[in-house]
Amino acid sequence: MILSGFPRFIRCKASPFSPNLKQPRYKNLQFLSYSTHPHCSISCLSTNPSKPIYSATVSDLKKWEDWAKTLVYSVGSKFMETDNGPEVNTLCREIQWLLQDVVVEEDQRVEGVVKLRTEMDQLYILWNQRIEKRRPFQYIVGCEHWRDLVLCVQDGVLIPRPETEKIVELVEEVVRKDEGLREGLWSDLGTGSGALAIAIGKVLGVGGNVIATDLSPVAASVAEFNVRRYGLQDKVEIRQGSWLEPLEDAKGKLAGLVSNPPYIPSGQISGLQAEGMDDLLHLCEGAASMLKPGGFFAFETNGEIQSKFLVNFMLNHPKSMFQDVRIVADFAGMKRFVTGFCQ
Ligand SMILES: C[S@@+](CC[C@H](N)C(=O)[O-])C[C@H]1O[C@@H](n2cnc3c(N)ncnc32)[C@H](O)[C@@H]1O
Repeated sequence: MILSGFPRFIRCKASPFSPNLKQPRYKNLQFLSYSTHPHCSISCLSTNPSKPIYSATVSDLKKWEDWAKTLVYSVGSKFMETDNGPEVNTLCREIQWLLQDVVVEEDQRVEGVVKLRTEMDQLYILWNQRIEKRRPFQYIVGCEHWRDLVLCVQDGVLIPRPETEKIVELVEEVVRKDEGLREGLWSDLGTGSGALAIAIGKVLGVGGNVIATDLSPVAASVAEFNVRRYGLQDKVEIRQGSWLEPLEDAKGKLAGLVSNPPYIPSGQISGLQAEGMDDLLHLCEGAASMLKPGGFFAFETNGEIQSKFLVNFMLNHPKSMFQDVRIVADFAGMKRFVTGFCQ
C-alpha cells in the first residue's frame, strides 16, 4: 500500500521541503522541542531541525547528487511498470527535496563548505534504501505533510493518506452544527501517527478532547510525539492498547468516534465478499456502547463493497442503535466512508 508512489508529492509544484515552503513550516515548528523522538531514526530530518553539526564540501554534495541520479537512471521506469511506483522525474525531484532538506546553509567561515543536518555517509545510505529497498520517501525524511500538519512518521507507523483527510471534513461539518459535539469527548481508534486525533483536536471547541488509541507501541509513541509538537497534550491523549480496551472510562460518553483501521488492499478481496472486515465490525459493535445518544461516527473502509456491507450490518444488527447511516465518497469518488449517529 505504502509503496504505490507518492501522489501528494507528484501533485506538488514545489517540494514540500522547498526553501519557500520550508521557512513558514519551520516557523510552525519553532515552538517544538528540539529533542529527538526516541524512536526517530537519524533520517527524521524535516521534523527535527536540530542544530546542524555536520558539514561537507559542495563538490562532495555534487558527487552524491550525481551518484543518486545515476542510481535513478539505472532503475528507469521499472518501478512504474511493476507497481505504478515513482518514475525517474519524481525520484529526481526527491533528490532535490532531500538536498534542500539536508543542507542548512553555506558555512560562512569556509568557502565551498555547507552545513548539513546529517552526515554524507548517511545520505548515501538513505538514498540507497530509497532505490534498492524502495523505502518510502516519507520514512527517508521522517515526515509527511497531511492537511495543514507536518507529521513525524517512521518505519512501523502508517504514512497518513490523503483520502483520510475527508474524515476531518466530515467531523468539521457535524461540529459546526452541534455545539454539544464540538465541546465533547472524541476518540480516534488506531491512530497511527496521530493524524486524525490531532486534526480533530484542532477543530473541536475549547472544551472538546480526543482520546486516541493504537495497539502498536511505536505508533503510540510517534503519535504522542506529534501531539506534543503541536502543543496539544492537554487536548489529545494517546493511549496504547487494542481498539476500545483503553477506553473503559469513556463508555457511553463519546460525542464522536472515528477510525481508519488496517487497510486491506482491494486486490486481496475476492468476488463480492467483504473480507478483512473483522476490525471494522468489532469497532461498529463497540461504537454502540461507547457513543452517547446523538454521538457521531465515521469509519474508513477500502471501498464500496466494505462500505455497503458495513451499512447493512449496522442497520440490520439486532442491537442496532444507529441512525442516518450513510456512505460518503472520498475525493476520487470512491465510496470509502461510513458515517452515522447513535440513537
Ligand atoms: C490503516 S492504519 C491508520 C492509521 C491512522 N489512523 C491514519 O489514518 O493514518 C491502522 C492503525 O491501526 C492500528 N491497529 C491495528 N490493530 C489495532 C488494534 N487491535 N487496536 C488499536 N489499533 C490497532 C495500527 O497500528 C495502525 O496504526
